[in-house]
Amino acid sequence: MEAIECIKTRRSCRKFKEEAVPHSVLEEIVDAAAYAPSWKNTQITRYIVVEDREKLETIAGECVLGFEYNTKTIRNCSALVVVTMIKNRSGYEKDGSFTTSKGDHWEMFDAGIATQTFCLAAHEKGIGSVILGIFSEEKLTEVLQIPDGQQVAALIAIGYPAIWPEAPKRKEVAELLSFQ
Ligand SMILES: Cc1cc2nc3c(=O)[nH]c(=O)nc-3n(C[C@H](O)[C@H](O)[C@H](O)COP(=O)(O)O)c2cc1C
Repeated sequence: MEAIECIKTRRSCRKFKEEAVPHSVLEEIVDAAAYAPSWKNTQITRYIVVEDREKLETIAGECVLGFEYNTKTIRNCSALVVVTMIKNRSGYEKDGSFTTSKGDHWEMFDAGIATQTFCLAAHEKGIGSVILGIFSEEKLTEVLQIPDGQQVAALIAIGYPAIWPEAPKRKEVAELLSFQ
């Protein structure tokens, strides 16, 4: 698939078939996502794949801040990818001070690029995904016992798509782009 076609045809998918995504395919996707750029090539993004149905049910019921939409998506997905970040590297100098006035925001920036790269690589392999930002970081950290030194950036529900949604309307280039 051509890059522009992959970017434009990727959709947030919330309804999945029961079929599991093979671990070998997930490895290929993460291998591609590893090529995402990062702050000074710090590569702080990690991926924890939750497939255990009991854990998924706990996350769906207790970790989405009551946002029903995400409860349904998580119950329905084949797996939930928890995107985490190694703390205190991206945006930092070696002495622990921030390099720029954006402080530690670069951590989320790196994780965001990596997350989109993951979703595009998944799409190329016929796997649907949706990024989920509405979750309780505190509860999720407790339920999954996220390793010390990492924090959760985002969730990605994945699976083979049951329905391929229409693209929500996009803004015109004239509104998005300016030159100086
Ligand atoms: C940072 C971020 C957080 C999001 N959080 C959620 C979410 O919690 N639940 C959900 O169903 N979709 C979520 N989405 C998906 C967006 O709703 C979706 O990307 C947007 O509507 C555009 O649709 P498209 O991805 O099909 O182009 C999120 C997307 C991003 C980038």
